[in-house]
Amino acid sequence: MNKYYKYIFILLNFILSIKTVKSIYSNSPPDFSFLESTAQTFLSYSYASYCDFDDIKNWTCPTCTHSDVEDFKIVNAVYNSTTDTQAFVGYIGNEVIVAFRGSMDIQSWITNFQFLQIDYPLFPSAKVHSGFYDSWSSVRDQVKQSIDSALTLCGVECNEIKVTGHSLGAALATLAIAEIQGWYTIPSTMYNFGSPRVGDTVFAEYFNKIQPNVIRVTYEQDLVPHVPPEGVMGYHHIPTEVYFSTNTTYKTCDDSGEDPTCSDSTVGYSIYDHLHYFGMHCCCR
Ligand SMILES: *[C@@H]1O[C@H](CO)[C@@H](O)[C@H](O)[C@H]1NC(C)=O
Ligand SMILES: *[C@@H]1O[C@H](CO)[C@@H](O)[C@H](O)[C@H]1NC(C)=O
Ligand SMILES: *[C@@H]1O[C@H](CO)[C@@H](O)[C@H](O)[C@H]1NC(C)=O
Repeated sequence: MNKYYKYIFILLNFILSIKTVKSIYSNSPPDFSFLESTAQTFLSYSYASYCDFDDIKNWTCPTCTHSDVEDFKIVNAVYNSTTDTQAFVGYIGNEVIVAFRGSMDIQSWITNFQFLQIDYPLFPSAKVHSGFYDSWSSVRDQVKQSIDSALTLCGVECNEIKVTGHSLGAALATLAIAEIQGWYTIPSTMYNFGSPRVGDTVFAEYFNKIQPNVIRVTYEQDLVPHVPPEGVMGYHHIPTEVYFSTNTTYKTCDDSGEDPTCSDSTVGYSIYDHLHYFGMHCCCR
């Protein structure tokens, strides 16, 4: 732990120097406007991913009965016990939905959070969080097969793949959509909630180039969007953030990924806020 603090101290100075050159970012915004009702539906999918595997498989889980997701057609739930990673895939109307679960013990996940990075295999010199990448990799094949099946069932009219997740699940959704957008010809989008930083500045810029159509929702004093700290080991959020300063008041943030007037303007001390996006109680309720 001491080693980490030393790292943080040295690199905090580095952050300050990065902030002054922030205007170098020229990322693209999504090609759609943020919709609160869509976000709430995706929060329901994200929260449902925390439910029991068997109850997700037949869509009888507590969150599955929410009116905005009750008509969803589940195709598959996937789980890898080595990494304790869970996700589900299905469709509704003309859209395939992919949702990733966060940690079942968010408090200890935050307490034990490590910053360790690996080289991102898909883009030279980009770095991503090692644990997130391992978790995503452990379900990649199952998720791909499930999306293939969902696309078949959804039919020829199927025209979009939507990816979502909350907390750790938001980080996994980010790594997932970076690859999913390249697997299929139909477009993909993501709404995620309370995401930690997933990779470094090079990753964030690469990600925006291949997939600008994502909304990263942050809420009040949620602490998870503050980890790992900006600039430490180059960590940098992907755009585009939509910051809720109350349950119902939000702003679409700038394209830097680190708009100083959004979540970055808060201290970010609250686990309670992490678990109550828009006043909806996480998880599987
Ligand atoms: C769904 O699965 C759960 C767990 O296996 C089971 O208890 C429940 O009866 C099932 N419900 C339906 C409607 O199939
Ligand atoms: C689960 O994850 C481990 C570690 O990444 C991997 O070796 C294994 O193949 C995965 N299992 C499945 C069924 O994909
Ligand atoms: C809105 O958020 C507050 C916490 O800031 C919470 O106490 C309240 O119940 C929420 N309201 C609704 C309608 O969800």
